[in-house]
Amino acid sequence: MSNKVIVFDTTLRDGEQVPGCQLNTVEKIEVAKALEALGVDVIEAGFPVSSPGDFQSVMEISKSIREPVICGLTRAVENDIEVAAKALEFARRKRIHTGIGTSPYHMQFKLKASPEEILERAVAAVKYAKKFVEDVEFYAEDAGRSDNEFLAKVMEAVIKAGATVVNIPDTTGYCLPNEYGTKIKYLMEHVSGIHKATISTHCHNDLGMATANTIEGVLNGARQVEVTLNGIGERAGNTSLEEVVMAIKSHKDLPVYTDINTRQIYSTSRLVSSLMRMPVQPNKAIVGRNAFAHSSGIHQDGVLKHRENYEIIDPKEVGLKQSSIELTARSGRAALKHRLQVLGHKLSKVELDRLYERFLQLADKKKDVKDDDLEALLGIVSRKNGKKLKLELLQVVCGKSSVPTATVQLKLNDELLTATATGNGPIDAAFTAVKQVVKRKIHLEEFLIQAITRGSDDLGKVHVQIQHRGVSYFGFSASTDIITGSVEAFVDAVSKIV
Ligand code: KIV
Ligand code: ZN
Repeated sequence: MSNKVIVFDTTLRDGEQVPGCQLNTVEKIEVAKALEALGVDVIEAGFPVSSPGDFQSVMEISKSIREPVICGLTRAVENDIEVAAKALEFARRKRIHTGIGTSPYHMQFKLKASPEEILERAVAAVKYAKKFVEDVEFYAEDAGRSDNEFLAKVMEAVIKAGATVVNIPDTTGYCLPNEYGTKIKYLMEHVSGIHKATISTHCHNDLGMATANTIEGVLNGARQVEVTLNGIGERAGNTSLEEVVMAIKSHKDLPVYTDINTRQIYSTSRLVSSLMRMPVQPNKAIVGRNAFAHSSGIHQDGVLKHRENYEIIDPKEVGLKQSSIELTARSGRAALKHRLQVLGHKLSKVELDRLYERFLQLADKKKDVKDDDLEALLGIVSRKNGKKLKLELLQVVCGKSSVPTATVQLKLNDELLTATATGNGPIDAAFTAVKQVVKRKIHLEEFLIQAITRGSDDLGKVHVQIQHRGVSYFGFSASTDIITGSVEAFVDAVSKIV
């Protein structure tokens, strides 16, 4: 058995099923290209029979992608398989993914069929798919709650019928890691011909076990993992690609590897999040905003002495420049000294001790202390205030059939400066106008709008992260007007560099 774990990405199929995450064909092609650059082996591009839009997306992705296998989902239904085969016509490497439920729940209450009928339909579907493509993957829906003996019988029959991959989905996210691992082991030991096929994991996260179950699956013989970026997917989501890939990469003792170009993880995660309008939770493993942020004094001191004291992954490995040290009331002198050095201030021990007292007083009042707060504490507040950048006026034109245009007036060094720009939306236009005013090369790294409660009159919280000359700066604002809030947050970040 090979030690390579095949990464099967289903962001565009299982991930895209999430309400509100739908993408158009152009956006799907953009994600598919990013997945190709990330190095995934298989892209599940959609469920072609489900809608003309899905059919078109699978077809266009098939034309645009060269390396990964393009896969289309079907039920064990002849028409589904024919439509998928048509949608995959232009794919250089193609796979049909077909299957049927095998758990007592699915057989009795959903399909209303006996186990014998299910077995027959499974074999017929694989044989039919084989008429169109060589590579056929079979899924046993709700395998997590299926009887292992029956599952083994189905697997043996579909492999005999030509299935190249057998997928064991924990559709409802019910299994515990040991249970899921034992299931894979059972199949490895009881399915004759299992070595002719690859076993695939497909786990859902209803109990927060998806990554653990997937890893257990791999340790027991699975060599394909079905995953999504940021773990998006039905209900609590699917197994997250970044977690499995980095778990395998970080544990050098595991006898397996993936071909993922991990340095592309962060940017791909952000692309998926922004196109799907699905924010990544700040404490999400690997790709959350706080995944490499240290805020307690003991941890900050430890990280500054030796990164590996508190980090198991070098942030560069996932495409981030560096970890961040957040200055809060829990920060110690080491973190304060480090930040001051980054800002170009060298303080003696006595000066640092004195500043630290004042820093703690401020940090008790403010959640996090920013660079300009530090400069104010250092007593250069008047010079800094004179330079402060402030949004004085914002006017936008947007709406159907109009070119989004924004005019901004900013106060910089007591001077009022105005610029007008167009963009692909009012926020993009306003950000461009701000950049014109400050004449700096600024790269937008993260832009997140979150509603604080749920009503349309709600306050929108906006976080912006920009990069200038290799350093990241953060901006924040909250407003009932999300366009104004976004521009204020951007100006807040930009004010730290002008
Ligand atoms: O969760 C599941 O069972 C699935 C199958 C369609 C593969 O997504
Ligand atoms: Zn699924």
